[in-house]
Amino acid sequence: MNIAVAGLGHVGLVTAVAMSAIGHEVIGIDTDEQRIAALQYSEPPYFEPGLQEELALQVRLGRLRFTTDPETAYVGADVVFICVGTPPQANGEANLIAVEGAAHDIGFWAPDGCVVVEKSTVPCGTHKRLVIALGGNSRLDVAANPEFLREGTALKDTLEPTRIVVGAETEAVHRVLRDVYAPLTDSGTPYIATDVATAELAKHASNSLLATKISFMNMIALICDRTGADVTKVAEVMGADPRIGKEFLNAGLGFGGFCFPKDVAALSHTAKALGVHTTLLDDVLDLNDRARDAVYLKIEDALWNIQGKQIAVLGLAFKPDTDDIRYSPAVALCGMLLRNQAVVVAWDPQADVAAQAELPKLVIADSPYTAAQGSDLLVIATEWPETYTLDYERLASLMRGRVIVDARNVLDDWAREYATKFGFTVIGVGR
Ligand code: UGA
Repeated sequence: MNIAVAGLGHVGLVTAVAMSAIGHEVIGIDTDEQRIAALQYSEPPYFEPGLQEELALQVRLGRLRFTTDPETAYVGADVVFICVGTPPQANGEANLIAVEGAAHDIGFWAPDGCVVVEKSTVPCGTHKRLVIALGGNSRLDVAANPEFLREGTALKDTLEPTRIVVGAETEAVHRVLRDVYAPLTDSGTPYIATDVATAELAKHASNSLLATKISFMNMIALICDRTGADVTKVAEVMGADPRIGKEFLNAGLGFGGFCFPKDVAALSHTAKALGVHTTLLDDVLDLNDRARDAVYLKIEDALWNIQGKQIAVLGLAFKPDTDDIRYSPAVALCGMLLRNQAVVVAWDPQADVAAQAELPKLVIADSPYTAAQGSDLLVIATEWPETYTLDYERLASLMRGRVIVDARNVLDDWAREYATKFGFTVIGVGR
């Protein structure tokens, strides 16, 4: 099928590459000319494992093209995926201006019978506005097809999803989307058909529940810190119950990234506007801030005075395997330390340049050991693989202090005990 993808960010570019990889003719459109120019040379605008290779392959095969021109993108499209950004406004409400802009162009250029699919995460009810922005006629059909990919495993999540969720009002539209996804459903991926509003809400609800699990565990961690219980073992016990599930029970520095913080805030905003009580969601966000504050207080407690102390921070990205620092708790923690006049020497294999642009006072190190050199304390802020296998003997020979704050609970009992052999005190979160 001929597929156009509007907006080539973290969701759009992966969608375009994946659609091409399963055999469709794909054209990606973005308003950013530099981005399009780079993509024509198969250069993705961000780091995502495996993406560059697959992008280059699809471009070489001639199935994937890029443009900034709406006519070129939409005029022959059977299906258009809207993947433009929906950033938060100050009150938490999603900003849908880019969705509206894309819809105007699609409404003008797309051919009769084209199916326009919301893939961007949007508040429940957005499709009604979308229909109007597309021109308010029945020439084009609208569907919602939320994306559940995670940064760091985005391509795999898209090509091997746990489920394909499509909201549409007619069986004819479902038929088109079933055709689009046939290569995936044929190999066993379930296709969940709903109405449009349900699909829209399912995405916000999924992300909000995952964020709730994390904040819940960060609350339990605060109780553990005061009682001597071990939050990692509590999570193990809870996760053994299939009704709870073991995923997303890791306490630590809190959640970040461009999805959970904005989606919880957006769902809270939508619910409030509908007169639905949302203190649960507000507490999820509040507990997330407290998780970061709790780590800051552990550092302060260990060092007494922060001012003038040198602190090594391992990890800046909001999670491993990405260079994304949007809403990164690690960057937020560095910001707090810098504001309190610590010298922060940070290492991150992908996100260092972006983080330094946000925090110019950050000193960047090229390895965990360079960061540790002369430091009074070391914080593990993002669980990159390198943080699991630190050489404590080497760290002890380099650092001035002997404290490790494991803000992601990456160190197991063995590693913690091993570190103590070299004089380190290891402080975890809720253990
Ligand atoms: C999230 C969802 O997991 C995806 O399903 C969804 O498609 C995506 O948002 C989106 O809406 O686009 P992502 O933000 O890439 O994906 O990353 P996650 O792996 O979900 O992690 C989010 C944050 O939660 C990270 O900061 C991570 O460190 C934190 N986290 C995760 C914890 O603190 N504890 C955990 O147990 C798990």
